[in-house]
Amino acid sequence: MPDQTLTRRSAVKLAGAALAAPAIQSLKGANQTVSFGIIGTGSRGSYLLKHLKGIDNGHCTAVCDINPDNLQHGYDTIGTNPTKYKDYRDLLNRKDIDAVIIATPLFVHFPVTRDALLAGKHTFCEKSLVFKPEEVHALRALASQCSNQILQVGLQRRYSVFYQTVKEMVDKGVLGNVTHIQAQWNRNPGWKMKPNPDPAKQKMQNWRLYRDCSGGLAAELASHQVDVADWMFGSVPEYVVGVGGHDYIFDGRDINDNVQVIIKYPKNQKFIGTYISTNSHLAMFNSTRTEFGELIMGTEGSVEITIGDDTHPALAVWFREPAQPHVTTAGGGEKKWQAGATMVAAGSQKGFPIMMYRDEVGPNDSFVDREMKFGRRWLYTKGIATPEEPRNPVDIELESFFNNCRDGQRPKANVDVGLADSTTVILSNLAFDEGRRVYFSEMEKMGRDEKGNDSKPKHA
Ligand SMILES: NC(=O)c1ccc[n+]([C@@H]2O[C@H](COP(=O)([O-])OP(=O)(O)OC[C@H]3O[C@@H](n4cnc5c(N)ncnc54)[C@H](O)[C@@H]3O)[C@@H](O)[C@H]2O)c1
Repeated sequence: MPDQTLTRRSAVKLAGAALAAPAIQSLKGANQTVSFGIIGTGSRGSYLLKHLKGIDNGHCTAVCDINPDNLQHGYDTIGTNPTKYKDYRDLLNRKDIDAVIIATPLFVHFPVTRDALLAGKHTFCEKSLVFKPEEVHALRALASQCSNQILQVGLQRRYSVFYQTVKEMVDKGVLGNVTHIQAQWNRNPGWKMKPNPDPAKQKMQNWRLYRDCSGGLAAELASHQVDVADWMFGSVPEYVVGVGGHDYIFDGRDINDNVQVIIKYPKNQKFIGTYISTNSHLAMFNSTRTEFGELIMGTEGSVEITIGDDTHPALAVWFREPAQPHVTTAGGGEKKWQAGATMVAAGSQKGFPIMMYRDEVGPNDSFVDREMKFGRRWLYTKGIATPEEPRNPVDIELESFFNNCRDGQRPKANVDVGLADSTTVILSNLAFDEGRRVYFSEMEKMGRDEKGNDSKPKHA
């Protein structure tokens, strides 16, 4: 395993890097394909490579993994005959590589991201961006020193047309005052321990299940939905409370197998998230899906939304709040509301599928196009068909990363988004362990000594 500690010496090196900013691998033309290497070709890395195969503006020049089987699998998946590396530092030394994609376990995100930025590479790192408070501070400092390099985090909901449409609805007040977001990512069964006779391999293979390598359910699942809340509410949290338990699965893991978190935002908005390993029922979408989704709740309406997966595409359904019931007063007059009365609000609401722009009828549409669009919309309203995202958001996030490497624009899922998300994950785990309200502002003191100097991260 590589050295993952941020030592005093590397901290000094980081500071030095501020003076001598790394030489960015310059892209010669606006249309040039970005040459990239991928570090970590396990489950997620290979999934990304499968998607990267269909993306034209990036070319895979190198693959790297410490596990030979996973390395070979990544190599076979992309099919561009990339050079294979066991040590990621050898890949970073390649001058013909402009960008790197990092899909290593969480506890290996920071050292590889740090080294990639110091080597002048544009960097895409999977979520959750960093693992420890010390890494939040160190990466923030480094990213500002390397501000000409792209640093993107793998929070793909930010790249979904559905989620972007809902964000617009929230911002334009279509849902009224959005006060709560409920989310779940429940599974049955939860993650399983994969046995391996070699203890080191066993640990690496099951890194998610050990606290010294993983942020558990908060980092692996909640991080995506907490980011949705940050985005929709337009703010970082104020504080976090939660309950976590290691109650049902005893196979050597030491992470919680069920957690519930409530996050309060500065304008009194709340995020309520549940992550359990004993039941996968999802009450949204007429229970046609399982496991995960978010319910965005405003005074004028709600949206049920899920990003789906490769077999179940993203879906978003909008419900209007029922009209306030009218009651007849003793004098025969009608008034809108009666204080103290118990009223049954209007019956169940029918959801409206959120349309994609491809379903919007425009003035330049041909007769056939218009008829097709009307036909599709009719099918949606009857529940016979559902609108689909034009493209998988994973494809969009990767293509967008390469575009940003060329045009220098700040990614939607940028370093601030990623660090805020990681901070909430870290604080949520603290809230489960310490059973207290943990303030977002506490991060400023965490990972620093009493004089406010950054302290050195301790890893397994
Ligand atoms: N955005 C998403 O929706 C999403 C989905 C799944 C996973 N992920 C994230 O992707 C990351 C990887 O998850 P995974 O499920 O692929 O885990 P995994 O264990 O399947 O794969 C990780 C790979 O990294 C390799 N690795 C470890 N240390 C390395 C090093 N120093 N150099 C090179 N390779 C190294 C391992 O050998 C392994 O092949 C995690 O951070 C996870 O949270 C994101």
